[in-house]
Amino acid sequence: MRKGIQKIFSEAAETYELINHVLTLGFDILWRKKAAREAVRAKGFLWLDVCSGTGEMALYLSRLAGEKVKVVSADFCHQMIAKAREKRIIPNLSFILAESGQLPFADRTFNLVTISFATRNIYPNKRELVAHLKEFHRVLKPGGHFVNLETSQPSIRIIQKFFHLYIKLTVKQLGFLLSGSKSAYRYLAYTIPRFFPPEEFSSILREAGFARITHRSLFLGVSAIHTAIK
Ligand SMILES: C[S@@+](CC[C@H](N)C(=O)[O-])C[C@H]1O[C@@H](n2cnc3c(N)ncnc32)[C@H](O)[C@@H]1O
Repeated sequence: MRKGIQKIFSEAAETYELINHVLTLGFDILWRKKAAREAVRAKGFLWLDVCSGTGEMALYLSRLAGEKVKVVSADFCHQMIAKAREKRIIPNLSFILAESGQLPFADRTFNLVTISFATRNIYPNKRELVAHLKEFHRVLKPGGHFVNLETSQPSIRIIQKFFHLYIKLTVKQLGFLLSGSKSAYRYLAYTIPRFFPPEEFSSILREAGFARITHRSLFLGVSAIHTAIK
C-alpha cells in the first residue's frame, strides 16, 4: 500500500499543484493560507509539516514564522520534495524524506505539527490513521498544536451529493488529462468521498490523545480545518 501511494505521488508530482488549483478553482490556496494563519498561534521555535508534498504549507508557515522559527517539511516521496526544493530558498525551511508513520524525531520535539490534504492518504483503515495521529502526538511537545486541513463532508445532504458528483466527474478525468496519470487521480477521487465528517474526525483525534479539539468548516463543508492540543 505504502509503495503504491508513493508511486502515485511520484507520477503526480510534476503537475500536482496546477491540478489542485484547477480542481478547487484556487480555493486550496486560500484554505492553506487560512490553516497556516491558524497554525502560527502555536508559537515556539520548531514546527513540522508532514506529508508536505511540494511544500506549499511549509512555505506559508516559514514566511509567517520569521527567522527565529525553524520549519521542517517532511514527505516520503522524492519527486514531491524535489518540486518543493525548486522553490525560492527560505533559510528557516528544511526538507526531509520521511514516512509520517515513523517520524525520525525524538518524543516532544515540535511546538507545531501541520498536515494539509494528506490525512486521507494515511487512512487505509481507521487503525492506521489513529497510529499516524499518535505519531504526530508523540513528536509534539506538551501544549504543542496540531493543525489538520483536509477535505470533509458537507452536513447538508444535497450539497454532499453534489460535491461527490463533482469529484466523480472531474477529478479522474481532469487529473488524467493534465497529468497523464490515470491511477493517481483515480486514487484521489476514491479517497475524498470516504473521508470523515468533521465531528467524527474530531473524535478520532481524541482517540489519538489530542485535547481541546475544534474545527472550522470551509466552503459549505467541503473542507475543514481541525486544531488540537497535546
Ligand atoms: C495530496 S498530497 C498533499 C501535499 C501537501 N501537503 C498539500 O497541501 O498539497 C499528499 C502528500 O502526502 C505524501 N504522503 C502520503 N502518505 C505518506 C506517508 N505515509 N508518509 C509521508 N508522506 C506521505 C505524498 O507523497 C504527498 O506528497
